[in-house]
Amino acid sequence: MTPRRSNIDANPLFVRPGEATTRPRFSLAEEPMLPETACQIVHDEAMLDGNARLNLATFVTTWMDPAADQLYAETYDKNMIDKDEYPMTAAIEERCWKILAGLWHAPDPHGAAGTSTVGSSEACMLGGLALKRRWQQARQAAGKPAGRPNLVMSSAVQVCWEKFANYWDVEARLVPISEEHPALDGHDLEKFVDENTIGVVAILGVTYTGMYEPVRKIAAALDEIQADTGLDIAIHVDGASGGFVAPFLQPELDWDFRVGRVHSISTSAHKFGLVYPGLGWVVWRSAEFLPEDLVFKVSYLGGSMPTFALNFSRPGAQVLLQYYNFLRLGRSGYRSVQRVSQDVAMHIADEVAKLAPFELWGSGPDMPVVAWRMKHGYTDKWDLYDLGNHLRQAGWLVPAYPLPDDLSDVTVQRIVVRNGVSMDLADILLGHISSSVSYLDGMEGPLPRKGRRTTGFHH
Ligand SMILES: Cc1ncc(COP(=O)(O)O)c(C=O)c1O
Repeated sequence: MTPRRSNIDANPLFVRPGEATTRPRFSLAEEPMLPETACQIVHDEAMLDGNARLNLATFVTTWMDPAADQLYAETYDKNMIDKDEYPMTAAIEERCWKILAGLWHAPDPHGAAGTSTVGSSEACMLGGLALKRRWQQARQAAGKPAGRPNLVMSSAVQVCWEKFANYWDVEARLVPISEEHPALDGHDLEKFVDENTIGVVAILGVTYTGMYEPVRKIAAALDEIQADTGLDIAIHVDGASGGFVAPFLQPELDWDFRVGRVHSISTSAHKFGLVYPGLGWVVWRSAEFLPEDLVFKVSYLGGSMPTFALNFSRPGAQVLLQYYNFLRLGRSGYRSVQRVSQDVAMHIADEVAKLAPFELWGSGPDMPVVAWRMKHGYTDKWDLYDLGNHLRQAGWLVPAYPLPDDLSDVTVQRIVVRNGVSMDLADILLGHISSSVSYLDGMEGPLPRKGRRTTGFHH
């Protein structure tokens, strides 16, 4: 008689406990399961996510080279806050933000202040908090009330600024965008700023379209306001994406610490800094722009080290990956990576513009981002949401979304070209866009309106 084998030995897999039955999903089961089984379940569920490399909605890095992957696997256990235990990681963090301070033309990178963060959202919060605290101190010193701060920015800011305003009781004064002024450009700024303005945010790389806001022009408008009113208003540049693009692709553009009013700059390392999520950076022009009383001390090499962060513990590995990229790529390496992404973006833009239904949105890519809208009156059978849904069938995630106020009646579709979106992939994508258009054009009648929105974009 053949001995009975338990299920645990069974081959093929997927018949072991936990595989042949389902475990509770929203409560903790009493019994453990084999690591292979648990891993297989998580692996299989994650397999149902979209393919990250085909996710053209995100600005965030989805590919690093194998040496970086190895370094990541070796260093994922490091906690960034344990400066005393991991002094080299702490020293490397400092080197990185000083490299950025130099890249962004801080007058003296060693006299600047900076830190890594989880991403741009935290970096923007810290930049905003420093503006608020400096404004409060100045108001108090002048014996004036400091209870009603406001922050002036475009209506096209990323949601992190609305969060900042909400969480820290600052009024968000949103300057609406329009066809004539598709980004904050200093126009009408005097109607928005007053003595309670803690600063103006300029976005280098508007999330919706990739456009750069003209920091120099915004600063010039603030100079005029100062001449008229005496108000001396600082700028924080939200360079979430552009902070790592402009220094390489538009080195002549004055957007950084070359502009005197720019007190602080934030960026996402996990976007065009080419590091896996989540890492960001914020740098102040010089230490005096980061109020001392916002800074805490943690122990470090028998002494103490200043830290300014929202979280205490967070991963340190990404900081090492950033330094790896700085060493590995250098200026010319970053330049060629961003240049190729830009070339691919321009190629996509040229080809999309040739398709009958579309016109490009924005005058030309500042960043490797392409946005387009449907020509007025082209068809009422389908729209950009339908195109997004159709492209999804081939695995591409290409979001469509309305622009913010006052252009909320304009819907655009956007592709972010990151390192790893090759010319070859771009041509395949263009083929899919073109065949999707033919398919949608050839439909008998309009698609049902219900449930048409893609969900790939969270601004
Ligand atoms: C202009 C801008 N600011 C801030 C953010 C937030 O960045 P993060 O996702 O790194 O928190 C983004 C993200 O898309 C952005 O585009």
